Amino acid sequence: MGGRDANMVLLDKNGIRCDGRKVDEPRRIMIRAGGLKNADGSAYIEFGDNKILVGVFGPRDVHPKHMSNTDTGILRVRYHMEPFSVGERKNPAPSRREIEISKVIKEALEPAVMLEKFPRTAVDVFIEVLQADGGTRCAALTAASVALADAGIPMRDMVAAIAAGKVADTVILDVNNEEDQAGQADMPIGYMPSLKKITLLQLDGVLTPEEFKKCVDVGVKGCELVYELQKKALHDKYFGNRGD
Ligand code: CDP
Repeated sequence: MGGRDANMVLLDKNGIRCDGRKVDEPRRIMIRAGGLKNADGSAYIEFGDNKILVGVFGPRDVHPKHMSNTDTGILRVRYHMEPFSVGERKNPAPSRREIEISKVIKEALEPAVMLEKFPRTAVDVFIEVLQADGGTRCAALTAASVALADAGIPMRDMVAAIAAGKVADTVILDVNNEEDQAGQADMPIGYMPSLKKITLLQLDGVLTPEEFKKCVDVGVKGCELVYELQKKALHDKYFGNRGD
């Protein structure tokens, strides 16, 4: 949240946002299950101008061994941005932000994955952000769920994610980079639609209690839309004519 930019019109008098969308309109979302032959499971997502690739390995042995848990499997997540993924070249070394987002995504996926079925093993999720445009954690979480399902890891549900937010005192769905920088609030939400459970909820900015509730409602509805696209991606790979 970079504070308000006085020159940026985030919402015009007709209720149209800076990229031409209506307040409750998500960006274009394309999800593809599979694609990486050397990973156990994979997925690629385009979420507006975000482009993210996810590879999953496991369940597999844990090295070093003392990191393993005799009662359950463990989930490890690495979120990484390519140096060319943002306008100003990003240092390839892991940043504090990437470490935080890796942790947030891991904790958002854990309730969905039946790790207890694989004691002493690890499931590794590698996320590569090829192009970023605001909302990468939600797009990455969405793609990671599809990659885990593609790997055949037993799951209680998939986690679908999208951000709600506030610009020009109005609640919006799916916050882009400009809206994140110049808007008033950004609320990434991860949600398991079949179980009706939220696994990720963050808030950057300030909302009234009413706006908070509205953001959660709008975000959960958005996650339900994303969920349909996740299921379609898996369906297209396993029951479609893709041939891979
Ligand atoms: O990506 P997400 O919204 O989940 O996380 P953020 O920390 O709120 O970052 C918002 C956006 O800032 C990213 O999606 C990128 O487009 C941009 N960003 C950047 O330009 N340079 C960075 N080093 C990190 C983020």
